[in-house]
Amino acid sequence: MDKDNMEKTTRDSDLIINARKPEGELGDQLLERMNRSHEQMAQWVCSHLDVEPDFSILDIGCGGGVNVARFADMVSDEGKVVGIDYSDVSVEKTSKLNANAIEEGKVEVIEGSVSDMPFDDEAFDLITGFETIYFWPDFINDLKEVCRVLKTGGVLCFGNEARHEEGEMDKYDELVDLLDMKIYSDEVLEKSLEIAGFDDIELNKNPDNSWICIKAVKK
Ligand SMILES: C[S@@+](CC[C@H](N)C(=O)[O-])C[C@H]1O[C@@H](n2cnc3c(N)ncnc32)[C@H](O)[C@@H]1O
Repeated sequence: MDKDNMEKTTRDSDLIINARKPEGELGDQLLERMNRSHEQMAQWVCSHLDVEPDFSILDIGCGGGVNVARFADMVSDEGKVVGIDYSDVSVEKTSKLNANAIEEGKVEVIEGSVSDMPFDDEAFDLITGFETIYFWPDFINDLKEVCRVLKTGGVLCFGNEARHEEGEMDKYDELVDLLDMKIYSDEVLEKSLEIAGFDDIELNKNPDNSWICIKAVKK
């Protein structure tokens, strides 16, 4: 690798490492990029959801805030959308993008971790997470915390661009090392969701790429 390429690779990894927890100027740049690059996957995932106008919706790991904005457009004044993220840069970005809806009282953005969320039990009808579960520190306990704040009968939905496929995981080696991320197998996803209190688990896989839409209902 020549010097220019090495510098470019270093710059790319300096940027991409921010996917785990966006920080500073590079974190802001990556959020801007992810708002665009995750859009098609997010639309595909949302095509699996029924959103009622009066829904209370939580988006965990809200990043640059496009999904919070999308849901805010789908609910009426009776509804509410909350974004939570443990990165202050993500919280700032989501807040900027949703400034009008925040002013109207339709959207709230909170800095905090999925592991310990400042919400009442059974607060939300729908909880989503796009490209975020790879980074959760304690998957089963974090799912239990998600279950606590979801209404009984409410829907949990995750969208990921990377899914676990036997014999094809080498392609993620570099990213997994760089980001210390976890790409769970179907078995682990299903078992973890069951243990945490979910039922009616659906793993929808896009036939054209590696996207996965994971849906489950709180028992
Ligand atoms: C790859 S970005 C995805 C952002 C956005 N959801 C999207 O699809 O573009 C992952 C986001 O999850 C957040 N995140 C990761 N672990 C988290 C945790 N334990 N609690 C809250 N947020 C977390 C990160 O700060 C980051 O904003």
